Amino acid sequence: MKILINDGWSFAKLPAGSTYEDAEKAEFEDVDLPHDWLIWQEDLYETADAWYRRVIELPESPDPYISVRFDGVYMDCDILLNGEVLYTHPYGYTAFDVPLTGRLTKGRNVLTVHIRHQSPNTRWYSGSGIFRDVFLLILPEDHIIRDSLYILETEQEGRWSLAVSCRTAGNTEQPFICTLRERDGSPAASAEGHCANGTAEAALDIDSARTWSPEDPYLYRLTVQYGEDCETYQIGLRSVLLDPNRGLLLNGKAVKLKGVCLHHDLGALGAAFHEKAARRQLLLMKEMGANAVRTSHNPPASKFLDLCDEIGMLVVDEAFDMWERPKTTYDYARFFDDWYREDVSSWIRRDRIHPCVIMWSVGNEIYDIHAGPRGAEVTKMLVEQVRLHDPLQHAYTTFGCNYMPWEGGQRCAEYVDAVGYNYGEKLYERHHAEHPSWVIYGSETASVLSSRGIYHFPMEQSIMSESDRQCSALGNSNTSWGADSLAKILIDDEKQPFSMGQFIWSGIDYIGEPTPYHTRSCYFGQADTACFPKDPYYLFQSFWNDRKMIHIGVSWDWNPGQMIDVPVITNCFEAELFLNGRSLGRKKTDHHDPEHCIPVWKLPFCPGEIRAAGYDPDGNILCGDSRITPGETDHLELSCEDPFLMTDGWDIAFVTVSAADQAGNPVENARDRVSITVSGGGRLIGTDNGDSTDPDSYKSSCRRLFSGKLLLIIASNGQKADTEISVRRPGGKTDRLTIPARDVPLKPGTSCLRELSRKPVPETVHARKILIEALDPTALSPDSAECRFRYALLPKEAVNASVSWQVTNAAGI
Ligand code: GAL
Repeated sequence: MKILINDGWSFAKLPAGSTYEDAEKAEFEDVDLPHDWLIWQEDLYETADAWYRRVIELPESPDPYISVRFDGVYMDCDILLNGEVLYTHPYGYTAFDVPLTGRLTKGRNVLTVHIRHQSPNTRWYSGSGIFRDVFLLILPEDHIIRDSLYILETEQEGRWSLAVSCRTAGNTEQPFICTLRERDGSPAASAEGHCANGTAEAALDIDSARTWSPEDPYLYRLTVQYGEDCETYQIGLRSVLLDPNRGLLLNGKAVKLKGVCLHHDLGALGAAFHEKAARRQLLLMKEMGANAVRTSHNPPASKFLDLCDEIGMLVVDEAFDMWERPKTTYDYARFFDDWYREDVSSWIRRDRIHPCVIMWSVGNEIYDIHAGPRGAEVTKMLVEQVRLHDPLQHAYTTFGCNYMPWEGGQRCAEYVDAVGYNYGEKLYERHHAEHPSWVIYGSETASVLSSRGIYHFPMEQSIMSESDRQCSALGNSNTSWGADSLAKILIDDEKQPFSMGQFIWSGIDYIGEPTPYHTRSCYFGQADTACFPKDPYYLFQSFWNDRKMIHIGVSWDWNPGQMIDVPVITNCFEAELFLNGRSLGRKKTDHHDPEHCIPVWKLPFCPGEIRAAGYDPDGNILCGDSRITPGETDHLELSCEDPFLMTDGWDIAFVTVSAADQAGNPVENARDRVSITVSGGGRLIGTDNGDSTDPDSYKSSCRRLFSGKLLLIIASNGQKADTEISVRRPGGKTDRLTIPARDVPLKPGTSCLRELSRKPVPETVHARKILIEALDPTALSPDSAECRFRYALLPKEAVNASVSWQVTNAAGI
């Protein structure tokens, strides 16, 4: 029996160095698990001790084996039972079991988790706490040892067979029966196996099997029964081969990796894992055309891989961001030598039956690789450990290496099955010729920066030090190490059939690493932390999807006469742009030429509508897009991504608040401050506008819109009632939404207590635009050394914030 125990926990934060006695005197508050205590703090990098407590009752007639399974506790924690330390687990991203058999006393037992969170311990926002699920395992004496299941699936002339094995514990040998069922529950195959010396094995043959792939992620259910112990897994049938000349062969077919790197945080939820939020991220990436994820730079939550199996995402499952050489003072390098064996074992054994996992990455951007010969020794050692737990090569070994131009990287490349290059595209051709056995791909590419709805003109000028601390979404915020152009990396990779493809940095913005500013979240994603797509998202869609699409990559609310670049992102044969109904001409697109794959019009702004149409070679219109100069915010549109909220205490719903003018046009530069109230069956658990510069907490119920939008995350509170949301703006204007309840019983083991406290909205109105009217020619010269302007803040009620002026050259510098 595997019982979810995310309920009944309480939490206290104490100064670093606290003792069990200190914790006994502390005041604990009830919390919901998974829990990230850091995301609730003002300082997202606070050093502190976190203490969690939960009562465990010894079952009346206890089964002989009891253990508690933590899927992830960040980081460096002790697990105590009734005050006695039972186990210590340093790495925050690997799962671990704490056996309780024979240790529980009759009745009430107190399980305590003590986390020593010392900053800095990572290069990004880690979060901290029991941030993944916790389970109690209560098993009969003769049972299957968890995470010991291993499957070899083979195909011969269209017939698939499964060799299933696992380790068993107990005193007697029990019958071992494996049953495979189709998705609809009908039987697909079954077999009775044999057991000897603590190992059980069975072989199954499957008639007319259906394979698993990103396009058709077909899953079977495998039930494994050993005596009284029974567990069901979802499995998929797929063959994976890596070929140095043809790249990845999935089920015999060459497949390019259209991959995204994703960090583990879920925006306003912080690092607290929630299946629905992860699903939302993955579906957004799938909709962009991605078929693969690299879990940068650590093993993900177990459920994340279930989702990838189900949705159809290939996975590079990554273990570490550092080995023996640290990147930050308190990172895992402190523990690496003593713990890597245990962590590799946990990582591989938990994840090795997922069809989605095709590669095991032993590390990212590892300094040791470049620093000296020890790097190669550690690479070899880690690869050996991976093979110890995945001897039949369910997935291939790899790494993400920034040091491929040099000896260290090249030496280590000899030990892995696939060589991942971080920002090394220029080397592929030469290395492919010099090392014909290497399987090459881009473990990290891109690193182009953008902020949603922010445009810094002119487009041909790359600048990254803007006073608004934002990055232009026109593709002109480039890092020195990343791509000059996203189109170029997409086109170049297509031209290299030997390359397995690439993983762009990054799919979605994450908290931390806000290069090039000191703000809150990064600018690398194709969607912001709230999962609102930015313009480059559509570029990937135009390359990675066959569906015809068109997207105008700039908003349309500027100052009269200002020169505006209008990129039109499309995979149609030709695009046409119209300004207030008048055609500005047609432009052909060429998806093999980075210079001509995005048609751009440059025109002086004039209010109204720009509209784009996409054509096929016969001149038929396939799709269109438009942007309109809006008026002031008249109302807020609230839309929920889900048709209902389940009353199970677990479900969450995502509600987007968008500013609209009187005619219903989106006000894309609105920054209205709003205050949110949720009642009925829902509770507000997070708010996010995707703005890296916003100092307001992700846990505040009073937030600003950014580029016209705000996300509300609403969770079920277990009550059987519809959820009423009201969003109030200054002046008492209120917009509302009701999310209908779907009656579902409470999910056992779930906790649904915490919600954001209510805050009134201040009466100040925020400016969304400075309307500038030049009274003289704007170009300064020795003959015309002066220029006069008139300006006004919009909306008119906006507080007259101080406006500072800068003179730039024509390139905006
Ligand atoms: C890479 C690194 C990533 C991220 C990225 C930023 O080298 O692996 O974690 O820091 O640079 O461009």
